[in-house]
Amino acid sequence: CERQDGRPFRQRLLVVANRLPVSAVRRGEDSWSLEISAGGLVTALLGVKEFEARWIGWAGVNVPDEIGQKALTKALAEKRCIPVFLDEEIVHQYYNGYCNNILWPLFHYLGLPQEDRLATTRSFQSQFAAYKKANQMFADVVNMHYEEGDVVWCHDYHLMYLPECLKKHNTNMKVGWFLHTPFPSSEIHRTLPSRSELLRSVLAADLVGFHTYDYARHFVSACTRILGFEGTPEGVEDQGRLTRVAAFPIGIDSERFIRALELPPVQEHIKDLKERFSGRKVMLGVDRLDMIKGIPQKILAFEKFLEENPYWRDKVVLLQIAVPTRTDVPEYQKLTSQVHEIVGRINGRFGSLTAVPIHHLDRSLDFHALCALYAVTDVALVTSLRDGMNLVSYEFVACQDAKKGVLILSEFAGAAQSLGAGAILVNPWNITEVAASISQALNMSAEEREKRHQHNFHHVTSHTAQEWAETFVSELNDTVVEAKLRTSK
Ligand code: ADP
Ligand code: G6P
Repeated sequence: CERQDGRPFRQRLLVVANRLPVSAVRRGEDSWSLEISAGGLVTALLGVKEFEARWIGWAGVNVPDEIGQKALTKALAEKRCIPVFLDEEIVHQYYNGYCNNILWPLFHYLGLPQEDRLATTRSFQSQFAAYKKANQMFADVVNMHYEEGDVVWCHDYHLMYLPECLKKHNTNMKVGWFLHTPFPSSEIHRTLPSRSELLRSVLAADLVGFHTYDYARHFVSACTRILGFEGTPEGVEDQGRLTRVAAFPIGIDSERFIRALELPPVQEHIKDLKERFSGRKVMLGVDRLDMIKGIPQKILAFEKFLEENPYWRDKVVLLQIAVPTRTDVPEYQKLTSQVHEIVGRINGRFGSLTAVPIHHLDRSLDFHALCALYAVTDVALVTSLRDGMNLVSYEFVACQDAKKGVLILSEFAGAAQSLGAGAILVNPWNITEVAASISQALNMSAEEREKRHQHNFHHVTSHTAQEWAETFVSELNDTVVEAKLRTSK
């Protein structure tokens, strides 16, 4: 097996994630089209090119019939993807329920859904049962495709029960698990009824990875306080068996973005955008329409800025591109209406017959349009209330080598630890502070912008998705040997 440049692949890698890099749309009984999925996990893993990777996951669609399943399996095989078919009930209980209504908000310190606490508590057991069932379905597909020597890399909060399922079947399998969200303080994790089962299962992996040192530390504390295991500088130890736990900060394929800026369609988009917003400074938000992204808070901060700075009212525009996500979960539906209402109110208040201060789009942009937007932006606003890393901030920096725009970045995004010195860090809950940071960004001298940009550009181009994956997998290879040695002592 060879890579595109003719060099051999290093190793076979089975990447297991709930979401495949492509989502399927049915066009006929046995015909499918595939669209790229949005999200940081997909973006990062698409940058991994050294390995002969096969991707095992859900194609985002219910396919009850055999004809459809066969045709989709064939279409996905061309993209090196292997589907796990989940029926509607499992998706409802496992994906919408346990993953996105319980684990996701909890891991981002948002607690359980506000109006729904009791209902969520009641349905907890059945949703956790569905979660375990779904994880076992992923394990069955991995077992079917696993060959000796493969490395199995499980991803994210959807699959915390997977390492145990895999190791029960084959103790020699090299299994890594990586979390793309924050891991919260152990005081938060201990409120989960299934807290111990999930920790024990993750510890069945040979290597457990997080974006930041803090998340790894929280995980180790949870294991010591909840399970009574020992935390060591290397990880978590229980009766002589060590599970290595470490931080592996993710990156992006920065070269892909930098090269794209030279492409004719991107140049064309840039020209259009410059004409359209000529005479105005462009501020940009690009997010999945998720409560963790702090979109309402961001827009309210922008309103405060306009209130306090009449001079800027017709000289600045905020483009908020928010791709809808997890639309079957009620919290997400409420968020969509809330954002629409706030945007409408502010545009009514500060807009004119010919211009509005906020352009809000509820959709995904293609790669070329996205690169062009990043390139023409003067100020990017990333105001996540919590975020595992946030790759949008990295993508913005990669596209800014000509313009040297300013990044306003939440201190609660993992990226604050890597891009903090170049960005303006803010507490996204403090609207007054974010409004002041907008003013600071728009008035910043070219010299200071250049200095801040250079810091971040250097980081983004030298800490890539490629390097992240290589480091994780190479450590996983070593760790398995270490773990065996320790057990046999
Ligand atoms: P998350 O993992 O929570 O989605 P990240 O910022 O890490 O957050 O990653 C989001 C990814 O999804 C980025 O690669 C970004 O380009 C992409 N994305 C987000 N919103 C959009 C959008 N509206 N259109 C196109 N791509 C988007
Ligand atoms: C985050 C999660 C990913 C997830 C993505 C998109 O990045 O860490 O696991 O794939 O959001 O969310 P979705 O629910 O559409 O897969």
